[in-house]
Parts: sequence; C-alpha cells; structure tokens
Amino acid sequence: MKKIKNVCCIGAGYVGGPTMAVLADKCPHLEIHVVDINKTRIKAWNDNDLSKLPIFEPGLEKIIKKRRNHNLFFSSEVKKNIRKAEMIFISVNTPTKTKGIGAGFASDLRWIESCARQIAEYAEGYTIIVEKSTLPVRTAEKIKSILNSSLKANNSQNINAQFSVLSNPEFLAEGTAINDLINPDRILIGGDDDDAIKLLEDIYSNWIEKDKILKTNIWSSELSKLIANAFLAQRISSINSVSALCEKTGANVLEVSKAIGMDKRIGEKFLNAGPGFGGSCFKKDILNLIYISEFYGLKEVADYWKSVLDINYWQQNRISSLIIEKLFGTIAGKKISIFGFAFKSNTNDTRESPAINICKNFLNEGCELLIYDPKVTEQEIVSILGSNNLNLDTNKRNWHKLDTIIEAVTNADAIVVLTEWEEFKNINWDIIYSLMRKPAWIFDTRNICNKEEIEKTDINLWQVGISK
Ligand code: UDX
Ligand code: UDX
Repeated sequence: MKKIKNVCCIGAGYVGGPTMAVLADKCPHLEIHVVDINKTRIKAWNDNDLSKLPIFEPGLEKIIKKRRNHNLFFSSEVKKNIRKAEMIFISVNTPTKTKGIGAGFASDLRWIESCARQIAEYAEGYTIIVEKSTLPVRTAEKIKSILNSSLKANNSQNINAQFSVLSNPEFLAEGTAINDLINPDRILIGGDDDDAIKLLEDIYSNWIEKDKILKTNIWSSELSKLIANAFLAQRISSINSVSALCEKTGANVLEVSKAIGMDKRIGEKFLNAGPGFGGSCFKKDILNLIYISEFYGLKEVADYWKSVLDINYWQQNRISSLIIEKLFGTIAGKKISIFGFAFKSNTNDTRESPAINICKNFLNEGCELLIYDPKVTEQEIVSILGSNNLNLDTNKRNWHKLDTIIEAVTNADAIVVLTEWEEFKNINWDIIYSLMRKPAWIFDTRNICNKEEIEKTDINLWQVGISK
C-alpha cells in the first residue's frame, strides 16, 4: 500500500487553515499545501506579520511560525498541488442556498462540485479525497459520481487516476480550534475503502490514540456531523427557553444549569444561557437537517428541529425588546454601547453572530451604537451594518467602532454585553459609571460581568435568566 507524503487542502478558511497547521506540526514528514481561490486570503496567510493572519485563533500564530514554508505552504496553485497530492482534503464553504430548489434550507454545493471537477481533471494516480466540510448526507456519492464519470469519459489528464472518497468531518470549535485539533474527543472516518481508511488513520495515529478513531460507513459519518451540531444547538435553545422562565419565576438560570448539569446523564457543558447561538455551522446545519427531513417526508422531525432555530431568533428579539422597554420604552437618540460583536470569544468571526440581529433591532429604533470588540475589524462591521447609515434625527452616522472600552461607554445610556470576552470580566465599574449618562444600565446577556462590583455602583444591572 502506498504511503502518503503530499497532502493538499482546498479551502484556507476557519477549518482548512488551523486543521492543516496542526497536521503539519504533528506530521513533519508530510508536505502540506493549502490552496484557496481567494488570493487576498492566501496573501494574509503568508504575511510575515503574524498578527495579519486571516483568522485569529489562540495558539495558531506559534504553529504557523514554526511550520510555514517548512512543510506547510499556502498558495493559489490549485492545479499543481492537486496533481502532486496523494491525499486531498476538501474544506470549502457550503453556505445555505439563497435561491432555487431548497433555497433558505439546503446547502449550496457548487464549490464542492467545482473541487470534485478540478480533482477529476488534474489528479494523478491513486488519490484519496477527504470531505472535511460539513455536508448534507450522501454528498460523497455525488463526488464519487463526478470523479468516476470523468474517468470513464477519459477527461482526466492521467489515465492512471483512481479515486477513493472518505468522510472525515471536523468537530473543532472556533476560539479553541488548536486545542480541539490536538486533543479531539474523537476522529470520525467514514468510508468503504479499507486501504484509504488505513492511510488516513495512520496520519491521525501520529498524535491520537487508536481508540479515539471511530470508523463508520460514509453516510453515518456525514450525518453524525450534522447531528452533533444540531444536538449542541438544541441544548442552547433549551437553556435559553429556560432563561426566560427563570426571569419570570424568580429562579436563577445559573443555579438551574448547575443543578441539572451535575446529573451525569445531562452533563455540565453547553448549558450557558446567552443571546442565542451564532457561528457558521449551527444554523446552516439545522436548516440542512430540516431540508433532508422534509425531503424524506418526515414533517414532524423537520418541525422539531425548526423549533430549535425559532427559539434562537426569539431569544435575540426578546432581549432586544426588553432592553428597549427598560430604557423607558425608547432608545431614539440614545447611545448604546455594544460589548462584543464576534459570535463567541477568542475569535474574529462574526458569521451569524447574535450581535448582528440585536444591533439591527437597535438601529431600527433610531439609536447610536458605540461598538467595542477586541478582534473584529471595522471593515467587517461595515460589511454587515453598512458604512453610511445615518440617524435621521441627528444626521450623524448611527454606529461607531471604538478602540477602547472607555471610548465606547462615554455618554452611553446602556452597555449591552454580547460576547463573553475575558476582559469584560474584570472592569472597573466605578470609572465606567462615572462616564455614562444616568440612569445607567448594563445588560449582561452572557452572565460574565462582576455582579458584586457593579452593585457597589448605582448602575442598573440586568442579567439573562436572573430575575430582579
Ligand atoms: C466551511 C464551512 O462553513 C463548514 O461548514 C465546513 O465544515 C468547512 O468549510 P470555514 O473554513 O469556516 O468552514 O469556511 P470559510 O472560512 O468560508 O473557508 C472556505 C474557503 O474555501 C474560503 O477561503 C474560500 O475562498 C475557499 N474556496 C471556496 C476555494 O478555495 N475554492 C472554492 O471553489 C470555494
Ligand atoms: C460548533 C461546534 O461546537 C463544533 O464542534 C463544530 O465543528 C462547529 O460548530 P463553533 O460554532 O465554532 O463550533 O462554536 P461553539 O463553541 O459551538 O459555539 C456556538 C455558539 O453557541 C456561540 O455563539 C456560543 O456563544 C453559543 N453558546 C455555546 C452558548 O450560547 N451557550 C453555550 O453554553 C455554548
């Protein structure tokens, strides 16, 4: 059986970049080429200033510094690197379709298809294709069909080309990606070609114990990824629904989470109430699950998963409304300070961030937003909220990105904490209070601010899931 030496990964995003960095670090004998059609992104991956890498992940810079241009390379040379590779990972994006059949639910597989066609055209010899992207069930079948029909039609530049397709979904979470890749709970490999499975397993065995490597058929592997994300999202919607009940009844969601989480059957993780889940995966994967369920005539199953998404929107809107309500029913002309725009801490990613919907709700009411986030750039927020939104009453721009917490709270009527950044945990609230307009409010949607310190000031505090 052939050994793997050359690896290619198509897609240098939040999944492909960190995954290949760790692979390069753990397997110095491999030569890994990460390719992406986005030249700006590749340029950023190759920047000498490591703070300019296209994504922020704790621990990533150190590995890039060590492996880049040794056995880890970033480029846009797709053709050459496909040709050279014995193993090709596909890590391209699969967003929700915006038009056509399945619009709003199904995944758009155009980039997966384009990768399969490029591989069919350029690959040489026995090539293993590994699906890393989260994909709808039975996508591997489509990839195989493109590869095989191209072989039959003799489109491939090398008639010796021979393909095997594996599913190997990535379970990393952003913000902890490097640690998740180094110490995964499990590695899942789905496929039916024993040789290909063995070769991929051998790569992971360089740093992962054998009993953590789970082998299944290809469809179970594809489905397991969707279901893992759906179960995680469902826990968040469950605890968020409970947070509203706690606020009404006098219970405290932190105490309830702790009490139920100590039951080993439930477990303590993923029970933090918040402004609703964000990120590139949960919503997309549940929409996909809904689509597949409906496709197979399982309406009740589809409805069940839809309710997880419904609670998520509801929580964002519920929080926006109650904030407006507490600020005397109007925020027109008021300054609202937004603490955190990323969908979670330790990432610069804003995809599906609850901050987006909540900020838009506020802007619709005619207020001015003072946004502070340690990692999200102004350019990113411009792409979401627009650059030339004017407040019709004051004729001024209706949002600003500030570089410091102090600037972001000056003359603000309220602070809304939306991302659980560490630096929000230890703030000198005396100073903050002195800078705000009175009466001043903090709305802590993540339950991370220091309640005792806040209560020493005259700031009004609202926390998710805790009744006053
Ligand atoms: C994406 C999906 O969101 C996730 O569901 C899946 O599991 C893995 O891929 P992520 O890495 O976060 O995750 O996406 P993104 O940061 O958008 O990166 C994808 C990259 O693929 C982009 O840089 C894009 O330019 C690149 N790409 C896309 C190609 O190089 N070629 C293509 O044909 C299409
Ligand atoms: C998720 C999965 O965890 C990961 O396995 C998969 O590969 C990709 O999707 P990610 O979206 O990066 O990872 O982050 P995650 O930590 O799961 O958080 C998702 C969202 O849920 C965030 O908005 C986060 O703030 C929120 N969340 C998480 C809560 O509101 N409460 C919790 O208890 C946990």
